Amino acid sequence: MNRAAFLLWTFLCFCASAVGENGVLKGEDDGFELSDDKDLQGLIKYNMRKSLDLEQEGCYLQTGKKACLEECNFNATAKTFLIIHGWTMSGMLEGWMHKLVSAVMQREDDANVVVVDWIPLAQQLYPDAVNHTQAVGQDVAGMLNWLQDELQLPLENVHLIGYSLGAHVAGYAGTFVDGTIGRITGLDPAGPMFEGVEEQKRLSPDDADFVDVLHTYTRESLGVSIGIQQPIGDIDIYPNGGDVQPGCGLTDVLAVAGNFMEVMKCEHERAVHLFVDSLLDKKHMSFAFQCTGPDRFKKGVCLSCRKNRCNNIGYNAKKMRKRRNSKMYLKTRANTPFGGYHYQMKMHVFDRKQSSNTDPTFYVKLYGASSDTGNIFIVHDDPIGMNFTNTFLVFTEEDIGDLLKIRLTWEGENESLSSVWKHIKSSFWSWKAKSDKPVLEVRRLRVKAGETQKKFTFCAQDPSKTEISPGESITFVKCRDGWEVKPRKRLAM
Ligand SMILES: *[C@@H]1O[C@H](CO)[C@@H](O)[C@H](O)[C@H]1NC(C)=O
Ligand SMILES: *[C@@H]1O[C@H](CO)[C@@H](O)[C@H](O)[C@H]1NC(C)=O
Ligand SMILES: *[C@@H]1O[C@H](CO)[C@@H](O)[C@H](O)[C@H]1NC(C)=O
Ligand SMILES: *[C@@H]1O[C@H](CO)[C@@H](O)[C@H](O)[C@H]1NC(C)=O
Repeated sequence: MNRAAFLLWTFLCFCASAVGENGVLKGEDDGFELSDDKDLQGLIKYNMRKSLDLEQEGCYLQTGKKACLEECNFNATAKTFLIIHGWTMSGMLEGWMHKLVSAVMQREDDANVVVVDWIPLAQQLYPDAVNHTQAVGQDVAGMLNWLQDELQLPLENVHLIGYSLGAHVAGYAGTFVDGTIGRITGLDPAGPMFEGVEEQKRLSPDDADFVDVLHTYTRESLGVSIGIQQPIGDIDIYPNGGDVQPGCGLTDVLAVAGNFMEVMKCEHERAVHLFVDSLLDKKHMSFAFQCTGPDRFKKGVCLSCRKNRCNNIGYNAKKMRKRRNSKMYLKTRANTPFGGYHYQMKMHVFDRKQSSNTDPTFYVKLYGASSDTGNIFIVHDDPIGMNFTNTFLVFTEEDIGDLLKIRLTWEGENESLSSVWKHIKSSFWSWKAKSDKPVLEVRRLRVKAGETQKKFTFCAQDPSKTEISPGESITFVKCRDGWEVKPRKRLAM
């Protein structure tokens, strides 16, 4: 069993046993029967938050009870957020909920922020919790209908934010409400029992005027993925390809939490933390770029913002003309602030000597106006194309300011102790070619910054030093003239 499968197995077993021990299986000794709709409604609470103080209980809205609206100071002209949790085994609201609530309240002063608490229905065996999403969604729709009747609440000011199973609850609410909800955000919507089902039974683009989705845990094991893999909104953003989130590796998380469950939670919950980040950090917005798939994105071919091909992620996402299931990608840092900087780098590699069988490993160091990066390895799945223009994605965590200089290095054989294969290859070469080293030539680098959409051409600092062999570097600076590429003007290599 691979690592992910093992974790998923642990997760499902642990949850089943946790539910069993607590005796909250259907109808068991908890004083509620779930078969009757009326009983079911009493199990869904609408907790309106009144202060950032987590200890304060806030107040509760109840469909049909006008007094609550006054008591809670419900402001019908302000924005209204309903935050919906997912499946739970602890039977408590988790830590992320408080972070999200307080981030929304800090960003939108007047807003009505309501936590939809359906914990008794969510703390069930997973299939039973799934079974309740429709009823909970209907209940939310009932609350919104009543607010429309009572206060003429404009639905376009309503934003539902659902995490995991909560995303599908939001979808049902959008289906059943009279009118069209302004926005639904799905934070890593649950995958098991929703992947591949028809639109009516999951979150879908028709559920609100704008449906945006963050997918952070779409790695499949045993045929299922915790987060849904397929695009289900108007825009679907897959940070880091939607699978491996930086900082969530087994060793990273175990070092801090020492618990396998935390490893799974880290990636699933990352969607919430990215959204919280987008609410709080307006200085550097993270962009996501439309691309047909993660592999093409990793090659750096998708950093365009033309024709709405890029968007801010999270709360700052711009509503786009209905553009269903548009998959978008970005890379992130491991911690808040999660946003980084994407560069597309194009370089034509000339094969000068003995290089037709080499697969060089390059790294670059970027020198900026405010700081420099460390060595960044150029990641590529396919071998570097010889006599060919190669495109790469380079991601930096820090803002280096204007890019001034780039040093390109071909990792020398003496540096790469890690790779036995390289060692074999290098011995092969030294046997075949004796002292003859492979030589490549790179004359220019063409760079496009994803965040600014600016394009530049960099030329070798020393025009006579454009050739490179293992262990050597070439330094590139802005070409003397015309280094900033004007839109639409093509530059010959
Ligand atoms: C209600 O919200 C609106 C819009 O945000 C705001 O202008 C107004 O001051 C709020 N009213 C109260 C009583 O807070
Ligand atoms: C809940 O599950 C049962 C059996 O698994 C099914 O018959 C029933 O229709 C489901 N209810 C809903 C609301 O989906
Ligand atoms: C690249 O071009 C050079 C010179 O034209 C040639 O010698 C070399 O074989 C070519 N390499 C490949 C991999 O096509
Ligand atoms: C690799 O070897 C070259 C030349 O032998 C040397 O200049 C370079 O510093 C070496 N690199 C490392 C990292 O040892």
